[in-house]
Amino acid sequence: MDELLAKLHQTNSLTKDEIVELLGSLTPEGRKELFRLADQTRQRHYGKAVFMRGLIEFSNMCKQDCLYCGLRRSNAGVDRYRLTEDEILECVEEGYELGYRSFVLQSGEDFRYTEELLTEIIRRIKARYPEVAITLSIGERSERFYRTLFEAGADRYLLRHETASRSLYESLHPGMSYDNRIDCLYTLKRIGYQVGAGFMVGLPGQTAEHLAEDLLFLHELQPEMIGIGPFIPHSATPLAKAEGGTVDHTLVMIALARLFVPGAMLPATTAMGTLDPVGREKALKAGANVVMPILSPLAVREKYALYENKICTGDEASHCRHCIEMRIVASGYRIEMGRGDHCGFRTDSCLA
Ligand code: 5AD
Repeated sequence: MDELLAKLHQTNSLTKDEIVELLGSLTPEGRKELFRLADQTRQRHYGKAVFMRGLIEFSNMCKQDCLYCGLRRSNAGVDRYRLTEDEILECVEEGYELGYRSFVLQSGEDFRYTEELLTEIIRRIKARYPEVAITLSIGERSERFYRTLFEAGADRYLLRHETASRSLYESLHPGMSYDNRIDCLYTLKRIGYQVGAGFMVGLPGQTAEHLAEDLLFLHELQPEMIGIGPFIPHSATPLAKAEGGTVDHTLVMIALARLFVPGAMLPATTAMGTLDPVGREKALKAGANVVMPILSPLAVREKYALYENKICTGDEASHCRHCIEMRIVASGYRIEMGRGDHCGFRTDSCLA
């Protein structure tokens, strides 16, 4: 185990068999050493900075039917909403006044937000606040669509691959294609976006081999951002009775992702904070360096339930900002409110 960790630290890679062996042989001391190496690697690239992104969940409509997700189209129990262009701009304005310079616009796969409408939204944000970074997280679209929005000023795109095992992917995403998902990620890269991939931990049927494939896929894609969170079963989905992922297991995957893709922007996800009151702090100490507080209007927060009991749904944006700041500082890190680009794009945030 120690040799595998040393090899990973030096080369930022392992074979699939080695990853499986490492996952199967990790002792409590091994975990500690893994987290130490991950934290050291993150600090080499970004120091003690924790990058803040304001998350705006602008629509919970979704045409997809992913088995794990509370927003799947078959869930008739969701109170569906869409924010207007003006409402989205008001969220950005509120966030900007709180100091945010990086915004994530996220929704279900809702094609009512057309290329034209999203172009207009991005143009308006950039016209008013030219220095902010805009990240989109709105699912699979055409290359033309991705290109138009990039030209309109979108900087980054999050599209988790969810799982790099074709069979597991296809069993969880009826009507969707694994190849298309992967093609979208490479297309986004080619266009010039900073791209985010990522996966859930603890999906039903997921094995150490599957998780090894996730890490190898990340290593091949070299995304600028990596979102990893525990799967949390939602009671109104076909996976209601599944076991779900644990914080401990997810921490190991976060630390390994940091070592496989050392320069990545890696969030301590809301799902971690939902399963454990200090889950996000633990993630920061295991190699994560981004936090994404929710800026959506209070009236819609609870409606954006990918899973249940999500934290922060009742908090004002200003409250979130201060709560998270306190947590970050108490963990020994420093808040960074700038755009927070990946090292390879702009060097402002970069040490290495
Ligand atoms: N538990 C945890 N994460 C989930 N996501 C969707 N549903 C769940 C769930 N039940 C994740 C997916 C998606 C991201 C926005 O949220 O990975 O890409």
